[in-house]
Amino acid sequence: MNKKSLYVTTPIYYPNDNLHIGHTYCTIAVDTYKKFKTYQGYDVFFTTGTDEHGQKLEDKAGENGYDNPLDYIDPIVASAKDLWKSLDIHYDAFVRSTDKAHEKNVQDIFQKLYDKGDIYKGEYEGYYCTPCESFWTETQVGEDHICPDCGREVSLAKEETYFFRLSKYRERLLQYYKDNPNFIMPKSREHEMVNNFLKDGLDDLSVTRSSFSWGVKVPFDPKHVVYVWIDALSCYLTAIGYGTDEEKFNRLWPASTHFVGKEIVRFHTIIWPALLMALDLELPKQVFGHGWILFDNEKMSKSKKNIFYPEPIVEAYGVDSLKYFLLREFTFGQDGSFTREKFLNRLNSDLANDLGNLLSRTVSMVEKYSDGIINEPGAYEAVDEDLKNVATSILDKVNEKMEVYDFSGSLEDIWSLIRRTNKYVDETEPWVVAKDENKERINTILYNLCESLRIISNLLYPLLTETSLKIRDQLGLNDLPKIEDANVWGLTKAGTKVKKSEIIFPRLNVKVEMEEMVKRNDALIKEREEEKKAPGFKGEAEGLEDDKKAEITLEDFDKLDIRMGTVKKCIDHPNADRLYVLTVDIGSKDITIVTNLKSKYSIEEMEGRKLFVLYNLKPHNFRGIDSEGMLLAAEDEDGNLDLLTVKKELRNGAKVE
Ligand code: ME8
Ligand code: MG
Repeated sequence: MNKKSLYVTTPIYYPNDNLHIGHTYCTIAVDTYKKFKTYQGYDVFFTTGTDEHGQKLEDKAGENGYDNPLDYIDPIVASAKDLWKSLDIHYDAFVRSTDKAHEKNVQDIFQKLYDKGDIYKGEYEGYYCTPCESFWTETQVGEDHICPDCGREVSLAKEETYFFRLSKYRERLLQYYKDNPNFIMPKSREHEMVNNFLKDGLDDLSVTRSSFSWGVKVPFDPKHVVYVWIDALSCYLTAIGYGTDEEKFNRLWPASTHFVGKEIVRFHTIIWPALLMALDLELPKQVFGHGWILFDNEKMSKSKKNIFYPEPIVEAYGVDSLKYFLLREFTFGQDGSFTREKFLNRLNSDLANDLGNLLSRTVSMVEKYSDGIINEPGAYEAVDEDLKNVATSILDKVNEKMEVYDFSGSLEDIWSLIRRTNKYVDETEPWVVAKDENKERINTILYNLCESLRIISNLLYPLLTETSLKIRDQLGLNDLPKIEDANVWGLTKAGTKVKKSEIIFPRLNVKVEMEEMVKRNDALIKEREEEKKAPGFKGEAEGLEDDKKAEITLEDFDKLDIRMGTVKKCIDHPNADRLYVLTVDIGSKDITIVTNLKSKYSIEEMEGRKLFVLYNLKPHNFRGIDSEGMLLAAEDEDGNLDLLTVKKELRNGAKVE
């Protein structure tokens, strides 16, 4: 038999830090999809890995005291692999972009594209914001030439770079989208790509950097390194033997689905297919852009202090608790908010109450009313027929939903059977029947409960494997579940002996666990911060880089006119999304100040605030409004920022000397 094969991938993660729950989301989803398709009989190859080059990683390693970035990266990659193991993730290839075979592929690909004329040398020109280290276009900086991110002035800068002739592929990309309506999923993301990036033309893409060196060198011009996208995307090729194992590569390429977060859909649906066209390779069949797991409505990030690591959660509540929550709570294509309360409540209601309780009461009743033996059922009543009909109808629904990666809907369908079975217990009242000593009826009820749970275990197997096997163990079933048994009634053999063991999902005290979750997570964050530093490296508190500026004299300092003021009014800048316009009372008069603190403070927090103003700074026009001074603020490396102030009540106009 020739099994149909599928090739699926997660993104190739940056190992600049340990992976958090947001990263596990996609990996768990792809792994579950793989397990499901395998269950259906497909041959599924699943690639994941780490994207290890680039300035950020080089910097991060340096900040922690390492000269060789790999010394910083290796333990993080090892911890990612441990994580996947503890989550029972069955990937087939783990590519590291620093693998020699991959680096060679990147160089070969670059050379091929260059020889073909699809890569050429040029000059990247743009507006550079030094503090933000980012290039902006003319339109983005506007006529006042300010950074759209921070509101500071940018300057025109040039850098020699190689370009990929992306513009050449615009028409073919649009045609490919048209011919393959399922290429970009969910559909809304296709509209975003067309409207935001393709409709009005497409620029060539800068694909090398000479400002840092941690990357794959351009083979014929080694002062350039290949910039992230060619390097990262081609990991999908390396993983299946591109350049090393032609047979394997031809068998598995093109990819069936690349699963990615929404912010990198653009790279996977515009740059990636264009690169593949240039390489004369087939295009992936589909790119699925999933949503973000938000935490308090913000993207999880360490600088925002809202990182949640999966390890302590898995350790405390089991792998299936995390899997169940992520797959059930969120719609795969959309953003969702992770809160401890939602998580714990789901565990209590769905896993402990609905499923755990059904199993434990069923097995207890078999022990109590039938000496632990599941007996042959007798004649069926309407209620039995109904349970049987519901139980045998779920697989079709799940098959259909998994086709469109509707994990949540699939679990919901399985839970509809779990709830129906619980209702069956209430309807049939086995404790009453047992008292009546109606042997045939009690046998029927107990058999049906066990059989329904057996079907539940068959349905759950690819989704919550550990739980499925625990259920089967208690039901006395020794074989592995098969998909073809998931919609057939009556397979449990009479005479099977059940085996009561521990509660599979104990009820949790939400209030207590809410606190415990934070404690465990904080402890791990602290531990990891320590672990990351190179041996003997002092680290943040004492080890901050002493980047002292050039010395100045007292006379120099005397030139600064810094005064205390009060914010009388704060309004949104009419022409700039990220700026406020303040009216500040500095004692002698009111002045106008334009500031970029909008992302840090609300209008309410600004108004009435006492602060310091550099008053004799040359006025600067920000998008049509003159700023007559600058606020003094301090910011640490974690992005914590506050405005300078004093403890005593000082009158406006008080000078700093
Ligand atoms: O972008 N919720 O790597 P990355 C959901 N190296 N998904 C999240 C998330 C969250 N809170 N945070 C991150 C890169 N992700 C490149 C990829 S692929 C050839 C190269 C997801 O580690 C994010 O959306 O920054 C992305 O899909 C993935 O993690 C990797 O992000
Ligand atoms: Mg990213």
